[in-house]
Amino acid sequence: PTTRVFNLTVSEIQAAPDGVMRTMLVFNNQFPGPLIRVNQGDRVLVNVTNQLTNATAVHWHGLYQNGTNWMDGTSGITQCPIPAGTSFLYNFTVENQFGTYWYHSHHSTQYTDGLVAPFIVHSPEEAAVQKDYDYDQIILLQDWYHDLSTALLPDYFASGNENAEPVPDNGLIQGTNVFDCSSYGDDSGYDCQNNSTQATFAITQGKRYRLRLINVGAFGEFQFSVDNHTLSVIEADSTLVEPVTINRLPINIAQRYSVILTANQTATNYWIRSWMNTYCFSDDNAPILNPDVKALLTYTNTTNEPTESADWASALDIVCEDLVTATLVPSGITPAPSADVAYKIDVAFQIGAYALDKAYINSTTWVPETIPTLNQAVAGLHTLNNSFSTSGLSTAFDQTSQFVIDVPNYQVVDLLINSLDEGAHPFHLHGHQFWVMASDSTGDFDWSTYKDLNTTNPMRRDTLTIDAYGWALIRFKADNPGMWAFHCHISWHMEAGLLMQFQTRDDIMKDWTIPEDVLGLCNG
Ligand code: C2O
Repeated sequence: PTTRVFNLTVSEIQAAPDGVMRTMLVFNNQFPGPLIRVNQGDRVLVNVTNQLTNATAVHWHGLYQNGTNWMDGTSGITQCPIPAGTSFLYNFTVENQFGTYWYHSHHSTQYTDGLVAPFIVHSPEEAAVQKDYDYDQIILLQDWYHDLSTALLPDYFASGNENAEPVPDNGLIQGTNVFDCSSYGDDSGYDCQNNSTQATFAITQGKRYRLRLINVGAFGEFQFSVDNHTLSVIEADSTLVEPVTINRLPINIAQRYSVILTANQTATNYWIRSWMNTYCFSDDNAPILNPDVKALLTYTNTTNEPTESADWASALDIVCEDLVTATLVPSGITPAPSADVAYKIDVAFQIGAYALDKAYINSTTWVPETIPTLNQAVAGLHTLNNSFSTSGLSTAFDQTSQFVIDVPNYQVVDLLINSLDEGAHPFHLHGHQFWVMASDSTGDFDWSTYKDLNTTNPMRRDTLTIDAYGWALIRFKADNPGMWAFHCHISWHMEAGLLMQFQTRDDIMKDWTIPEDVLGLCNG
């Protein structure tokens, strides 16, 4: 296979993406970070040099890492973080997948401070959709804070704060936006300059644009729209789907969508809008300072005067979901196999001991281990090797902080996620795509309907919104050996412990030797 080499330096800088100067963490002094683009089948080498004063780890969101679980970049699960002042070489092959992905720090809340970037995998199979567009454009969307995430955590975790997440100060499109400094008083302490700009995307009349949208934010779901232009959805989380034409697209944290925009209008400028769903926040008394997140779509070859354009965002009723993403249908048919085993988890936030606000999956709150759970599991399996059975290793972990389901080998898993919380949660499964078998924003799954589930070609993805007080039944084939995180991707919630793990394919893991350089990270 072709080998592609990338170098990433992680460092701390002072920068003002929206005119407000702050401390940021960035890849290669760039924000958003540099695009990594490879072909399916490529071997990818990414040398990460950590110039921070803290440790870090880089996760390749959506990549399977089949056979290289220790390259998944998940601090405390698949590796010890890369110590300050050292380098680590991520080395993996991208197989059996293509589409829109991203990469980000998977250490504490670091990605919220700027460590985000797109990762695109091309494939000959893309030809099926490539004929439908002339240009390929990545657009990153995100909420934005004017403070370092570590400065916001103490208030979030303060005694008696009942899961009121830090409210974003702004939103960015392609890492930039304007901000009205007058909304801060003179003594706000912020260095705010009215000198920032909105992103501009130049297009040519008559051409068709594939927009690869990635929500790299910490907290807020967006409704994405372009005035006067409809959008044809063709990809969700790297699954190609039968095209659906919409005005507004809901895109939650860590999700990706590709939409095709046809440049068929006659005026010069139109707004690209990314509306943060503040009305879907649990704390609706705390509006963000700038919910009106825009970029400019500008036609390069029109001579007409600008006309009044239709603002789809305000013209339509405000609802939390315009497109019911569960109705998307993959264009390549992959039937869901029948499930062998079923688990149910409850997701909740509670005021726990000492009135600290904590997240719970069942009765567990994740706290990263010093020795990664992968390392512990492999060591445990080595000890058990003589008496190894396919029922696997169980309860080797502290069950209050490491909720690990050791899936019996070769099994197809049904997971029913039941939310007892008043906010929506974008849940992400590492190392797999799952089938979305059923979901609803109210009530409970009715098991009497189980036999009627659509197994012909249900939607497949890696990040799914579980509605407030809602539920979802997802199914995945536990065929990828390793320790895989399943968590809410809201930065604050992951830090609050809303994460569990699946241990899969013990029959392979028992023979693993984790590479020396990966193990070496744990020696500081
Ligand atoms: Cu974007 Cu645990 O990942």
